[in-house]
Amino acid sequence: MSPAPQNGHAHPVMLRVNGQDYQLGIDIRTTLLDALREHIGLTGTKKGCDHGQCGACTVLVDDRRVLSCLTLAASLEEAAVVTIEGLSTDGELHPMQQAFIDHDAFQCGYCTPGQIMSAIGCVKEGHAGSDAAIREYMSGNLCRCAAYPNIVDAINQAKSRMGET
Ligand code: FES
Ligand code: FES
Repeated sequence: MSPAPQNGHAHPVMLRVNGQDYQLGIDIRTTLLDALREHIGLTGTKKGCDHGQCGACTVLVDDRRVLSCLTLAASLEEAAVVTIEGLSTDGELHPMQQAFIDHDAFQCGYCTPGQIMSAIGCVKEGHAGSDAAIREYMSGNLCRCAAYPNIVDAINQAKSRMGET
């Protein structure tokens, strides 16, 4: 839960998420993760450790992956945030979402939104050139179900469909 506003004062913050603007009144210390889940109602982004250690909360900010549990919402007023809910277009899954399904790249699914957002960032950064590179640059996303080999396979499939190598 995000901390309650101090002294009853909510700080006005405008967040642009998945192409939509949200005017929030939140405590200045509210993380992006809590703003998304508790204030906007987008619960696809998961809270694992809340300490920057598991990657479950990964989202894209201006096309770069960030840990939303370590990012203050108030610092993002000029930014474009994309969450797992914003990936599909006209009912069609993003190639990375489809690849995770095709390769059974999850079991319980708790880490999966973060894995998918991080995987998209990994490909866009040009860090998906080999299995070893994918493993290295996805190492911040933990999976307690150990779906790692399938995740690598999924990223290999999606990267060509995303127009990247
Ligand atoms: Fe953010 Fe674990 S919840 S890294
Ligand atoms: Fe269960 Fe990754 S699929 S933690």
